[in-house]
Amino acid sequence: MFYAEASEKDAERVRRNLSRLDALDKHNMVQHSDSYVYFPVNISDARIKKLIEKSGVRLVNKAAIAKEPRRTYYDLLDGKLTATELNALTRGFDLFGDIALIDVPPGLNGREAIVARAILQANHRISTVLAKAGPISGVFRTRKMRFISGKRRFIALHRENGCTFRFDVRKVFFSTRFAFERARVTSLVGGRERVMVMFAGAGPFAIEIAKVHKKSRVVAIELNKFGYEYMKGNILLNKTPNVIPVLGDVRDKAKDFKGFADRIIMPMPKSSETFLDEALLVAKKRAVVHIYTFAPTANQFGPIKAAIREHAARNGYKVRFLSGRTVRPYSAVEAEIVLDYEILKGRKPKRA
Ligand SMILES: C[S@@+](CC[C@H](N)C(=O)[O-])C[C@H]1O[C@@H](n2cnc3c(N)ncnc32)[C@H](O)[C@@H]1O
Repeated sequence: MFYAEASEKDAERVRRNLSRLDALDKHNMVQHSDSYVYFPVNISDARIKKLIEKSGVRLVNKAAIAKEPRRTYYDLLDGKLTATELNALTRGFDLFGDIALIDVPPGLNGREAIVARAILQANHRISTVLAKAGPISGVFRTRKMRFISGKRRFIALHRENGCTFRFDVRKVFFSTRFAFERARVTSLVGGRERVMVMFAGAGPFAIEIAKVHKKSRVVAIELNKFGYEYMKGNILLNKTPNVIPVLGDVRDKAKDFKGFADRIIMPMPKSSETFLDEALLVAKKRAVVHIYTFAPTANQFGPIKAAIREHAARNGYKVRFLSGRTVRPYSAVEAEIVLDYEILKGRKPKRA
């Protein structure tokens, strides 16, 4: 196999060059001698070979040493847990920056340290493992967590869609499962829109929109003072002064933004539909709404559309449904969904 030879001093420059040419072979090991580093290269066409040689790098023939296949934490647990315990283990975990959050089913109580150590060993980018110690609950939608292994930390630095968010995973709700939705909604925003994010948490929706659309203005309302404080920090961290953070209850604060919004985001699936009055109040004559809710799998959009139609009929405005999608399955009978619709004030509503 061909290897690109580089002196130790030049190794990083050569590696970057090879990577730019897409010539680095990822399946074989980089090798070292006393003063040289040898990068395995994939030379699929003569042009690449010429380009490498032209850059002054010597290509030598060497026996390849294959990389060991990556072992998952599941592989590492084989032999450490019984088959029944392995079966009981929920596959996967939530990842906030380098903090992993695992589910410990009752059958695995007392074995969680073994699971956590396997996760740390298999994923060098993870430095802390926490376990869920209760359901998501209360108005702030937070949950209790227990430290299990690694560095004892609860504050995450999480990257998503080109932004960075700092927050205490125990004190503020943050769902990484919304990453796609945040990118989707951001892509729909017009350059100078006025956006209202209700239930803003540590600011992910608001900040991601504001970062891409520098001329937009985004009001972000959050009731949890920890969420609000982290959001303020995240606005600085991401250089998005066009986000206006507001501490308080959407029910009180909405009146300060009467007729403000071209777009309204309602990311609180548990009770978003009880805030339709506030959405109507903050909407301009015409505004798009993204409402998140839990819905029966068998009839995902029926109940929320009926509630919105009924609200429109009662309050004398028209709605136009734009699109809907399943955000994720939630239980055997329920899904988390999003419905996009338009509020058209001053137009006759359809009968509910
Ligand atoms: C499901 S979380 C969504 C957080 C965030 N938007 C995200 O995507 O990560 C709902 C958030 O709404 C906040 N909240 C609940 N009731 C509220 C209210 N009446 N007014 C403002 N915020 C509220 C909670 O504290 C929580 O942070």
